[in-house]
Amino acid sequence: MMTYSRRQFLEFFGKSTVALAGISSLSPLLSSCLSSQKKMPRIPFSWKPIEPSQLDQLVLAEGLSWNLLAKWGDRIGGSEKSPLIFGTHADFTSFIPFDEKNQDEGFLWVNHEYLNPLFVSGWENKKGTKKTKAQVDQEMKVVGGSLLHVQKEFGSWTVVQDSPKAWRLDANSPIPLIAPRAIDGSKMSYGTMANCAGGKTPWKTFLTCEENYDMFWGEWDYTPEAGTQKPLSEPSIKPAERKYSWTEHVSRPPTHYGWVVEINPWTRKAKKLTGLGRFAHEAATCVVANDGRTVVYTGDDQTDECLYKFIADKPGSLETGTLYVADTIKGRWLRLTMIDHPDFKWRFKDQTDLLVQTRVAAHMVGGTPLDRPEDIEINPANGDVLVALTNNNRAGRPHGSILRIQENNNNPLAMEFKASTWIAGGPESGLSCPDNLAFDPAGNLWVTTDRSEKNMNKGELAPFKNNGLYVIPMSGPDAGQVFQVASAPMDAEFTGPTFSADGKTLFLCVQHPGDGSPSLDQLTSNWPGKAGDIPRSAVITINL
Ligand code: FEO
Ligand code: CA
Ligand code: CA
Repeated sequence: MMTYSRRQFLEFFGKSTVALAGISSLSPLLSSCLSSQKKMPRIPFSWKPIEPSQLDQLVLAEGLSWNLLAKWGDRIGGSEKSPLIFGTHADFTSFIPFDEKNQDEGFLWVNHEYLNPLFVSGWENKKGTKKTKAQVDQEMKVVGGSLLHVQKEFGSWTVVQDSPKAWRLDANSPIPLIAPRAIDGSKMSYGTMANCAGGKTPWKTFLTCEENYDMFWGEWDYTPEAGTQKPLSEPSIKPAERKYSWTEHVSRPPTHYGWVVEINPWTRKAKKLTGLGRFAHEAATCVVANDGRTVVYTGDDQTDECLYKFIADKPGSLETGTLYVADTIKGRWLRLTMIDHPDFKWRFKDQTDLLVQTRVAAHMVGGTPLDRPEDIEINPANGDVLVALTNNNRAGRPHGSILRIQENNNNPLAMEFKASTWIAGGPESGLSCPDNLAFDPAGNLWVTTDRSEKNMNKGELAPFKNNGLYVIPMSGPDAGQVFQVASAPMDAEFTGPTFSADGKTLFLCVQHPGDGSPSLDQLTSNWPGKAGDIPRSAVITINL
């Protein structure tokens, strides 16, 4: 493996001209949730960054090593007779220790976003082929999320396979909808899927976000009839993707999906929080305001969709609250309730209907269309809200950017903010298509990229090669520079970066290796197996 020094690497891409936010004193509003991070050691960058790679390998910076924690198909709990099986297409991860005094053992939640039918049920997307009910059943078991019991022993993290704490949610798990009324006839939904990124609440539960649910269930089309301002009395439906074809055997209302789901690992109960709106939720990043209420930032990962924040009504719960959409041009949060636009009263039946159709309401009040808002993190040093904007090919911005939101007086309850581009993607910065973000305990920002397998290694994206993991130091002589730490196997992206409390381990997922394979005879990746093996998404640990 050839490596570049950091300086050579920067010369390769050209020096970044990124201006970093000034590191101001810690906001009192944020200090309580960040106090645990102040004593942490700085992670030494003794390893050397890598150059972009097109190998079907997990390429790591020299000086780093990795271990496989769990891959699709592994037993994570249950009994030998009735095992709980780790799902595929792992995405968001989040860790909660059983006991704050022992950060080496706890719950690791992992999302399973979607699947490749070719690998899971053997179904090939060819003209005229139909999926059987048995194939659909097989596919519905590999999505949702896994709750793992993990522990660190002798320096390595492992899954405790016989733990009674393990749990699996899939596309059939019953999950109540927390809403003032039934939605499409029920307050119970069945299953969670398209679980992309998420978050963690201050009361030690996980949030998992339902993103592209329409792939599986289609979507109601609420577009008003041509020539009228009236909504259709019965919305027509946009069909689900043929690749999944679940709707040929299973019927589910799309309105039961596209929510933020709260997972309580202690009680093993889940609930869908409709107050946070319904759209292609990417992440749900929590911060506690000075009055104890939680504010959640969440983005809608579709081209020209919006950024939102939810302010809970009371501390310790996200069941009720108010949703706002960002006008990033004027720097205002715009409230989304029935009285906030004169046309809402005929466009929506009630507040629940408005939330079901959040996108429609957001655009009516003037929410700003953005370049696919994905993950969101709060800079622990200064309270800046950083939002990964992956790209906008329609608008000629193939590399995306990272948006910075600075709330007035650093107050998450503020109704006004400043918005600016914190880093622009492209050859100049060395970053292209940012997706997941994570701060390490020393305050450096880590970024994974989402260059789709369709566009990867082509055109303007070609110099960046396979998807990667990058670090951006936030202070010191290299502040604001982008260094590549790892390169993903063919077709894959890295997802779900989470640091252990001591900063020595990075939990990271390798998602969808080989998904560009045209058939089982022409696999583009065998990761993490040997030649001829079906590729498997997995969660790994990187030893820093
Ligand atoms: Fe599932 Fe927006 O990535
Ligand atoms: Ca993502
Ligand atoms: Ca992605």
